[in-house]
Formats: sequence, C-alpha cells, structure tokens
Amino acid sequence: MKIFIDTANIERIKEINDWGILDGVTTNPSLIAKEGKDLKTIVTEISQIVDGPISAEVMSMDAEGMVAEGLELAKIHPNINIKLPMCIESLKATKILSSKGIKVNVTLIFSAQQALLAAKAGAAFVSPFVGRLDDIGIDGTALLSEISTIFNNYGIQTEIIAASIRNPIHVSTAALAGCDIATIPYDVLKMMISHPKTTEGINKFIADYEKSKKN
Ligand code: E4P
Repeated sequence: MKIFIDTANIERIKEINDWGILDGVTTNPSLIAKEGKDLKTIVTEISQIVDGPISAEVMSMDAEGMVAEGLELAKIHPNINIKLPMCIESLKATKILSSKGIKVNVTLIFSAQQALLAAKAGAAFVSPFVGRLDDIGIDGTALLSEISTIFNNYGIQTEIIAASIRNPIHVSTAALAGCDIATIPYDVLKMMISHPKTTEGINKFIADYEKSKKN
C-alpha cells in the first residue's frame, strides 16, 4: 500500500519525505487555510519536494469552473492531480479532465455507490473518509472493504485512497481491505513508528552493550 501524507505543511512534508516512505501528498481547502499561503504556491513547493501524486482541490461547484480550475492547477506540475468533491457536477468534470489525461481524485466519498459512480466517470482515485464516518457512529473501515470488493469484482483500475485517517489501526485496516493508498496525517505517521516493546528492546540492548564494555 502506498503512503501519502495528508497535510499542506511544507516542513512536515519535508520531514516525512526524508524517512524514505512517502509516495504522495493530499491537501484540502481546510489544510491549505492553516498555512497562510495560497494553493498554487503550496502545491508548487510540494512538487519540488515529493516525487509522487499531489492532490489539489478546486473550489468551483459547477463542472465548467472545476475544469477551468483543474486545467490551471495541472499546469503547475505533471504530478498534480485534481481533487473534486463528490457531486453531479464533479462527475461531469471528472469525465472531461480524465479525457484530457489529467488525473482526478474524487473526494468526500461516504458510500460504495458514490465510489462506483466516480470510477465510472474516469476518476484515477476515490477518497473514502473513514474517520468522519466513525464520528457519526458508522464503521468507516467497512466502507473500504466494500469499495475494494466492488472494484476487484469488476477489474476497476481506480485507486482507493483511504482518507480521514485518525489512528494507526485505520491504516492497517485499510491495507487489509486492499486499499491502494492511505493518506495519513503527520501525527498518525509518528504514532505508527513507536511500540513500547521496541523502545524497551533498544534500551536493553544499549544497557547490555554498555555493561559488556565495563567487563
Ligand atoms: C482527504 O484527502 C482529506 O484531506 C482528509 O483525509 C480529510 O480528513 P479529516 O476528516 O481528518 O479532515
């Protein structure tokens, strides 16, 4: 499973990219708003750091506007893909952009039916939101398995990005469900590294080594 980071913060992207595990980046308007810079500036900076897909979301709510914004953003770098919120207009825009060779990530997916429609329109990626479903008492990870099964049943090439990830268990469940990608917040990536038994083991190896030097 590929690992994307879900942030627009350049320092955090650089830090995680240095780990050698980063395959791409997703941003959204809320993440961009936190950084005090405009979308184009941020995605340009990201494209100079990460060699992989970078999602940039449009703000228009009509197909024509989505396509126009998408074409502008796609000019920034070949790795930019256009993030469109799930709706009728975005299906139309997905069809047009994908026919021009521009990859589209249809976001705010909360049902398998939505994912199927986005894939039919030509989306390169669909982003089901796990955490936001959990928040309203619906098992978000079950949606990942449903979409994965449907896409496998029909050989659909659209990649599934497990999004709205809140904890490391969401990540392993996404991998078990066969998702192609998980887009993971910085704090969750940090949590994935640690295990108390690993820390305990490292400390014991160091202590034993130090003891042996004294003998
Ligand atoms: C997906 O690409 C979104 O940016 C993101 O995963 C949303 O997550 P949230 O529910 O934590 O805002």
